[in-house]
Amino acid sequence: MNPIPYGKQYISKEDITAVIETLSGEFLTQGPKILEFENSFAKYVGSNYAVALSNGTAALHLCAMALGVNDQSNVITTPITFAASANCVTYCGGNIFFADIDPVTYTLDISKTEELIESKPKGFFSGIIPVDFAGYAVNLEAYRQLANKHNLWIIEDACHAPGGYFTDTKSDKQLCGNGRFADLSIFSFHPVKHIACGEGGMITTNDEQLYKRLLLLRTHGITKNPELLIENHGGWYYEMQTLGYNYRLTDFQAALGTSQLKRADEGLKRRKEIAKKYYDVFKDNSNILGQSGVVDGHAYHLYIIQVEQRKALYDYLRKKNIFCQVHYIPVHTLPYYQNLGWKKGDMPIAEEYYNCCLSLPMYPTLTDDEQEYVIKNIAEFFIL
Ligand SMILES: Cc1ncc(COP(=O)(O)O)c(C=O)c1O
Repeated sequence: MNPIPYGKQYISKEDITAVIETLSGEFLTQGPKILEFENSFAKYVGSNYAVALSNGTAALHLCAMALGVNDQSNVITTPITFAASANCVTYCGGNIFFADIDPVTYTLDISKTEELIESKPKGFFSGIIPVDFAGYAVNLEAYRQLANKHNLWIIEDACHAPGGYFTDTKSDKQLCGNGRFADLSIFSFHPVKHIACGEGGMITTNDEQLYKRLLLLRTHGITKNPELLIENHGGWYYEMQTLGYNYRLTDFQAALGTSQLKRADEGLKRRKEIAKKYYDVFKDNSNILGQSGVVDGHAYHLYIIQVEQRKALYDYLRKKNIFCQVHYIPVHTLPYYQNLGWKKGDMPIAEEYYNCCLSLPMYPTLTDDEQEYVIKNIAEFFIL
């Protein structure tokens, strides 16, 4: 069997044609393909605005900047996420706080978040960064209520969940990143994600002011827009009005993203089929825990199981050419965050989860034979 990774991009002939066409055109860096990608992505998630960026980390950084995070800011996120969800606050000099996870969904526990908020003086926290971990869409309606009560902003880290949704109290589907509840939502187009640009990211929002600020921050804080200029010396003239970065996506990456987006629903459907098969096969296996059934609005970036002999199973599968992964080492236990004062034992549910979690191969081009091979080898591991 050829090596089976835990995640993989799917590049079609149409994708390659779209990139080549753009390479033969006039623009390499930001050109018309950027706006096309932004418009089609905003349409896909149902938001008013979208801003394409060089990667998901840059998207998080600009969100924190746009919301004014500084050394007085205290912000809450989950320990079970990629470090970037926390780092964006640290980049801006703010303090990140962790609240433990829900043991069933593995996402930030809203009641623990509320306890943490209420344990501090009024006005202590400025925002929350919930993460749609593994593709599970966090109930942002509930987070919005909490945020409104305490005057907080919300950045939704939806890197794992384009196309995911939760069902609100009116039984309406609320797509991740639709801008109804979060101030800003971010996505990543890293190759293992649903949509691959090589590197790439997107911010979605319904807030026009934030949108305009993000456009400025994306290109050094520089504008040439005559309506925004303080002075105007002529056609060449630009102004740097705030401190920004070069976080631009290239036009050929945007062309790839737009082409990939056309197959996003197809990919989601296949991910759900794969999840259903894992669930059906493993649900009665007492060695495999942590499966809570196939959830409709789950975007299944990852399929995670819990096993006591996690390291032994991981090593066994590697020998069989199956490359599972662990998502994630709790962020508060990473040496950098331990140096900031966090320690093992601070987030017991997240740490218990980490000790047993394993992400199985999950990507649209995983074939039935490959999935059977994964399932067979996991079953054999427990018999041996
Ligand atoms: C939850 C989460 N947030 C943020 C990021 C950062 O995205 P990028 O790798 O595009 O910078 C990732 C990517 O791995 C992620 O999984």
